[in-house]
Amino acid sequence: MADDERLICTSAALRNSGKAVRFEVEYFGENAPAFVVRFEERVYGYLNRCGHMPMELDWREGEVFDLLGHDLICSTHGATYAAASGKCTGGPCGKTPLVSLQMEERDGKVYFKGIDDG
Ligand code: FES
Repeated sequence: MADDERLICTSAALRNSGKAVRFEVEYFGENAPAFVVRFEERVYGYLNRCGHMPMELDWREGEVFDLLGHDLICSTHGATYAAASGKCTGGPCGKTPLVSLQMEERDGKVYFKGIDDG
């Protein structure tokens, strides 16, 4: 699915393994919560929806990394996801990954470009 490119935040708003910036995307005709994070210098965006149950990952806004800053973690039952791929790495998400978004960083800004498998 190709959505129009949309400015989400400045590059400076995202620190490695730091807080996510939340935004909304259209997914199957409805507004859906999403977020973007920086991990090992690159930016990654996902729908903010756990693979276990349709819950947002962060109960404190933007807090999506585990304590080590390696994986993304759902605050409801502790499912973990690889920050660079969205693949489930532990907990009750089984084989269900996060829905990943196409993000692009250029000229000090971060853009949403579309949904990978929407
Ligand atoms: S809703 Fe995310 S782990 Fe259960």
